[in-house]
Amino acid sequence: SDDELKERVAKVKASLGERLYMPGHHYQKNEVIQFTDERGDSLQLARQAADQTEAAYIVFCGVHFMAETADILTTEKQRVFLPDHRAGCSMADMADLKQTERAWEKLSQWFGPTVLPLTYVNSTAAIKAFCGKRGGATLTSSNAGRMLEWAFEQKERILFLPDQHLGRNTAYELGIGLDEMAVWDPMKEELVHERPLEDIRIILWKGHCSVHEKFTTEQIKNVRSDERDRRIIVHPECTWDVVQQADESGSTKKIIDTIQAAPANSKWAVGTEMNLVNRLAEEHPHLSIHSLNPAMCPCLTMNRIDLAHLAWCLDHIAAGTPEPQHEIQVPKQVQTEALQALERMLAQA
Ligand code: 13P
Ligand code: SF4
Repeated sequence: SDDELKERVAKVKASLGERLYMPGHHYQKNEVIQFTDERGDSLQLARQAADQTEAAYIVFCGVHFMAETADILTTEKQRVFLPDHRAGCSMADMADLKQTERAWEKLSQWFGPTVLPLTYVNSTAAIKAFCGKRGGATLTSSNAGRMLEWAFEQKERILFLPDQHLGRNTAYELGIGLDEMAVWDPMKEELVHERPLEDIRIILWKGHCSVHEKFTTEQIKNVRSDERDRRIIVHPECTWDVVQQADESGSTKKIIDTIQAAPANSKWAVGTEMNLVNRLAEEHPHLSIHSLNPAMCPCLTMNRIDLAHLAWCLDHIAAGTPEPQHEIQVPKQVQTEALQALERMLAQA
């Protein structure tokens, strides 16, 4: 039963004390988040992992790329676990190393050495390493603007992996026109662009988040026609049209900060993952909060981490027999190069 599982998790946490550290992303289920030591968005979680020098076991309540980042940012002796190895991220899987190398070859032919690769942290360690090795960096939705400015100080052009929407929304906010952006389609291996190649300033990888792409301008129209006083705030992984038509947009952290500072009785339609929207509604009963998408939109892979998997993973760690499929170990060479990309980000933002 749930009560039994909760008891098991609490028991292991008490027995391991400070040897165990459990961070959790805001999109995790309540049944999991209640046990985490710290919650955060991707940037906060990366920072917290880098600050963790004591814990022997880091049990990451989030998705695979986040656990990989924690492994890269912690010491060799610290062991990182993901309670369900199937908790991946469909966006991160949209850019693999071979595809990226092929794209880079083409871009180098067209643009010479003028391109710097940047990757959203929602990417595999191998893609972070690809960027790190070429002078590039990682970024998150909280620091995307600052990182793009930094990148343009280094090179004329940016290859932005793997989320075209975060790339387009952020570049547009910095004053780059849509016609100065090209889209690289990794399936067709072609670059879609309007203006001549020399005018292109950012090359967007054609990837997306399957959760945030489900918010539509139709849903915005419906909210506006039903309740004119309901404000709409969306995550920049949503499409450009949705972001343009919303009242506000911003990272997970910005959405949380905005709701926390909202005037009593104000009404909100929120365009981000369902577990977070539901939690915001529960924690702010003086506000009216619901998802922008009436059909709701859970991140299925985030939701793979549940109480049962957490208890199973922790039981094995406490017994000294951790399950190999739960352990996340990024190969040494990949770690070194990915660390360069992460450190460039952490030094900026
Ligand atoms: P942030 O935590 O950077 O807002 O990212 C959102 C997300 O999709 C995490 O997977
Ligand atoms: Fe990946 Fe989107 Fe889920 Fe985040 S919300 S883990 S980007 S699929």
